[in-house]
Amino acid sequence: MDATLEATIREELAANSERTAPPSDAVAVPPIPAGRYHDPAMFELEQARVWRRTWLFAAHESELPQAGSYTTFDRAGAPIVVVRGTDGEIRAFYNSCRHRGAPVVRDACGTAKRLTCQYHSWSYDLAGELRAVPEARSFVDLDTAQLGLVPVRCETWEGWVFVNEDPDATPLVEFLGPLCEQMREIDGPSLRKIGTQTHHVAANWKAMVDAFLEVYHIRTVHPDNAALLYDDATTTVAMLPNGHSRLTVGVKPEMMGIMDPSPIADNPSVGQLWRETSTSFGWFPNIVAPLDTGAFPLLCMWPLDHRTTELELQWFAPAWGDGEIPEEHTVRMTLFETVMAQDTANMAAIQRSVESRGAQPFQIGWHERLIHHFHRAVDLAIGRDVPTELAVSDALDGFVEH
Ligand code: FES
Ligand SMILES: [Fe+2]
Repeated sequence: MDATLEATIREELAANSERTAPPSDAVAVPPIPAGRYHDPAMFELEQARVWRRTWLFAAHESELPQAGSYTTFDRAGAPIVVVRGTDGEIRAFYNSCRHRGAPVVRDACGTAKRLTCQYHSWSYDLAGELRAVPEARSFVDLDTAQLGLVPVRCETWEGWVFVNEDPDATPLVEFLGPLCEQMREIDGPSLRKIGTQTHHVAANWKAMVDAFLEVYHIRTVHPDNAALLYDDATTTVAMLPNGHSRLTVGVKPEMMGIMDPSPIADNPSVGQLWRETSTSFGWFPNIVAPLDTGAFPLLCMWPLDHRTTELELQWFAPAWGDGEIPEEHTVRMTLFETVMAQDTANMAAIQRSVESRGAQPFQIGWHERLIHHFHRAVDLAIGRDVPTELAVSDALDGFVEH
């Protein structure tokens, strides 16, 4: 991390720890309407304007190790296949045959020399070109050059592969903005995926995202784990462009070093600040990445419907050589299940609250302002059609750090 930024964060951690009132530049955070968490019309707007127009994390390049490695991605509704070509390039296409729409891969992931439809065996190369049509003699004027798989925008930053259904979207690096520089020390290309854990949550996806954008709750929700490690009074956050964010909370001095990985499980490119804090990044719209020098999860919130969410933890760790996954990583993954059980325990009840006649707008503290920032980015992505009674205010726009 840039030395000036690191110094600023360290100063803020100390200042937050000492303060007895909101910081002098703080303002009242405008309330968040409860209807945002259950209105089916809002959910439809999000589907059309957020999920189908935004860069979405789809895979890590280590999951596509060789030419022909593919993985499917259907979290935003449309069936998409992400595949590495013979030229090493990672591309994405709609997983939809140009003959009559059947999928060209059926397994969730795998390796293929060609993408061959199982309905009538039209066959595409790894760059999406149509290469073989059985019984071609029965088609009049068949122009195979015009019948390649339909491409989906696919760009990779430091090993993280994103897709975007909007052909006119700004390039991924522009969308990520300052996140790129601020996260660079995780050295994405050196990481390996070590596992996935999933939880089904009976709540709107935004309620689950909210839960990972603040650490106000750790003393009450995580008294036996996170609250022992971290001093939430130090919490220091940054609202970054396009709904992204950064949150840093200091490790308690007496706990410093206790979570340090052994040399084989350590990420040598991670600097000192991340070792003395928990520093997590919000990737708009649906990922919170608590980056760490050992194993860490990407917390991914995938909406199933307006009141159901899949919380998927995709775990990554620095490469360790050829042996089995270091045990300390699997131990950390298991321990984290307890943390997630605590984080998800309130969700169904919150959903019942927001759907009740007594539902009132949420009162968010200044230290929780990343939640407001995230909701504001949802509204900006949707545009003018957000119903007035469900919209969040633009009052914090001036606090975004460019
Ligand atoms: S639908 Fe793919 S070959 Fe017929
Ligand atoms: Fe939590």
